[in-house]
Amino acid sequence: MRGSVTISGAKNAAVAILPAAILIEGKCRVENVPDISDVRVILTILQDLGVVVEKLPGGAVTLDATYIRSTKPNPEFVKKMRASYYLMGALLSRFGQADVALPGGCNFANRPIDQHIKGFKALGAKVDETDEYVRLCAGENGLCGNRVSLDVVSVGATMNIIMAATLLPGQTIIENAAKEPHIVDLANFLNTMGADISGAGTDTIKIRGVQKLTGGTYAIIPDQIEAGTYLAAVAAVGGDVLVKNVIPKHMECITSKLEEMGASIQNFDDSIRIVSNGNLTCTTVKTRPYPGFPTDMQAQICVCMTLADGVSKLTENVYETRFFGYCNELTAMGADIQINGKTAVVTGTPRLSGASVTAKDLRAGAALIIAGLSARGTTYVDNIHYVERGYEQLIEKMTALGADIQRIEE
Ligand code: EPU
Repeated sequence: MRGSVTISGAKNAAVAILPAAILIEGKCRVENVPDISDVRVILTILQDLGVVVEKLPGGAVTLDATYIRSTKPNPEFVKKMRASYYLMGALLSRFGQADVALPGGCNFANRPIDQHIKGFKALGAKVDETDEYVRLCAGENGLCGNRVSLDVVSVGATMNIIMAATLLPGQTIIENAAKEPHIVDLANFLNTMGADISGAGTDTIKIRGVQKLTGGTYAIIPDQIEAGTYLAAVAAVGGDVLVKNVIPKHMECITSKLEEMGASIQNFDDSIRIVSNGNLTCTTVKTRPYPGFPTDMQAQICVCMTLADGVSKLTENVYETRFFGYCNELTAMGADIQINGKTAVVTGTPRLSGASVTAKDLRAGAALIIAGLSARGTTYVDNIHYVERGYEQLIEKMTALGADIQRIEE
């Protein structure tokens, strides 16, 4: 693989920041919005609620949530994606009520939202929860800032509680908060719009409620996982690629492992050059919340391990069942992977072989594409719509780097 690739705006920041526009009485402009199917779904939901959405050339979107008509987003769309749970926090904060179907999205694990609910309750919400939906309204004493200590470090709960607390009277403190770059991005977006949030990026976040957010312009950060996926692809396949529009600090947890495996990494201000001859050595990876190695890169680094010299160990500490989304598929391509509880033991093999495989979720799909590019022969990856949830123009970007990859319409 050769040349350069430009990374798009971060999916997991965009799918929080766009619904957070509900909190604003006025117009905001969000730049660097990735053109992916999850973003298209969230924009459709927002428009349906009465948000005026305008897509501008170059990845900018303006949103005006001044005249929202409903606090009940269309369940048909809500069920299409995971991040629709952010509608709960945003609608509750602005209107004191929300009626939101339970989210769908990638089902690689049991993904409870009890910590989101715990947060809403701590802020004074009355919660009516069934297998189908969550209904929130102000409890007897009204909605008010409070202290919330999360039992598990949750990205979604941290962002949802930030949104819910933004327009409430009083101060909210989230303890044991997640520290991912997209959490800092959401807080920076809301502060630009007039919120008062401090501590994002640490495990204690303080939100002093404000009466109103009024609007402004904000650019979403580059996608850490999209960048990591291209870096892993070059490491596995071999080549010399400049990955542009990244924040190298966000990439350290990934680049340090690829270096350990034998790739050469050079950091610049907002780009990273990777050079790999495809000869990798085994390593040990344990996924952890940021700044640890991201679970969303588990499958892609696993492909590198299947090709590395020696026996690698990959331990999943966030979603134990995530291996099942792709390990059988890699085995069908000739990989040697033994799963022992939350650890996969991966014995490297010189070359994978092309096969017909099925993507079961977004990152699994990306990993199978990397595996296919490195394999002898042709690989067919089915269910590519999962990949399109989170990667903007993946086929075009890979092709520009020299990959032989086509989307087959059925
Ligand atoms: N958890 C709970 N209760 C909760 C929330 C989470 O027990 O109320 C547990 C989960 O079961 C998991 C851990 O806490 O074991 C972490 O889950 P988290 O809430 O952080 O995950 P999420 O917010 O649902 C986001 C990303 C995922 C990414 C995880 C972890 C979005 C829309 N999704 O999910 O991204 O894997 O954080 O970093 O931001 C992806 O992009 O492919 C993807 C799946």
